[in-house]
Amino acid sequence: MIEVCNLTKNYGDFTAVSNVSFNVKDGEIVGFLGPNAAGKTTTMRVITGYLSPSAGSVKVDGYDVYEQGMQVKKIIGYLPEKPPVYPDLSVRSYLKFVAEIKGVASRDLNKSVEAAMEKTAITNVAHKLIGNLSKGYQQRVGLAQSLVHNPKVLILDEPTVGLDPTQIIEVRNLIKGLKDSHTVILSTHILPEVSMTCSRVVIINKGNIIAEDTPANLTKRMATDETIELIVSGVSDDKKLHETLTSIVGVKSADIAFNETDKTHKASILVKSSFDNAPEIAQKIIAANLKLHKMSTSELSLEEAFLRLVNTMKGDEQK
Ligand SMILES: Nc1ncnc2c1ncn2[C@@H]1O[C@H](COP(=O)(O)OP(=O)(O)OP(=O)(O)O)[C@@H](O)[C@H]1O
Ligand SMILES: [Mg+2]
Repeated sequence: MIEVCNLTKNYGDFTAVSNVSFNVKDGEIVGFLGPNAAGKTTTMRVITGYLSPSAGSVKVDGYDVYEQGMQVKKIIGYLPEKPPVYPDLSVRSYLKFVAEIKGVASRDLNKSVEAAMEKTAITNVAHKLIGNLSKGYQQRVGLAQSLVHNPKVLILDEPTVGLDPTQIIEVRNLIKGLKDSHTVILSTHILPEVSMTCSRVVIINKGNIIAEDTPANLTKRMATDETIELIVSGVSDDKKLHETLTSIVGVKSADIAFNETDKTHKASILVKSSFDNAPEIAQKIIAANLKLHKMSTSELSLEEAFLRLVNTMKGDEQK
């Protein structure tokens, strides 16, 4: 249904998206996962025909988005990063306006608007001016406008941003309910978001696709790691400390950083969560005549986990 083929997008000299290819099948919900500035929004803008590609092509339902933009816009619903809502219109009149532009037949207008409001749970604010709604409700209106013409394909750029936890669950359920009848790409930088809604995940970082996997596989990779943090002083050779730490059974990697202020070194050691070799770490530090000031364990934050994931996957692909 969606074929992205060797897509590159440059802004002047800067390449925001580089030679990206992936496909989305009919009825699939695919997560587009990446940190800030990865190129998610740029890719989505090209898919929806709002930006032209610098190289490569995108086809939606067989239509080239650049050459046959009009046909594509009819079958795509798009929730941009910043919902294109008109503050001076009421929710209902805005959605009617959008439905008309999207070519919904006049006899179906009311029905389509009511259905979109019901799906996004905003019927109770139908008469309110959009400008007076909370951020979360405005986000739902944005979602409603993307759905109002019942498009085959939905491109949702961070659909749960700005919503409260209850609304996030509602919107996730709504998106899950679109499966089979719609083809959906949703972008996010939050991993649980994709685990809960998507059947497949495309991971993008710095404009490159790093991996495609199922959420289950991603979660498995992430659940297995934690970090042990050491603060040590007396280090004269960073490399030697690194070798010492990585020689310990069960240590996957170690990052060492010097703290100018108190002249200590911080070592962040990545281990499996089943790791039980902490005493050996302490012994090796002492045996190397270093002072151990602190040793603590922490589960990876989502950001760290994501970065590690991106890095390991890069490594995997180079093997
Ligand atoms: N119109 C533009 N002109 C120049 N550079 C741009 C433009 N739009 C985006 N960029 C740059 O392209 C890169 C990718 O941006 P993009 O908005 O696609 O990232 P993103 O993955 O959506 O990030 P976020 O999670 O912050 O929304 C960034 O470095 C950004 O600064
Ligand atoms: Mg973005």
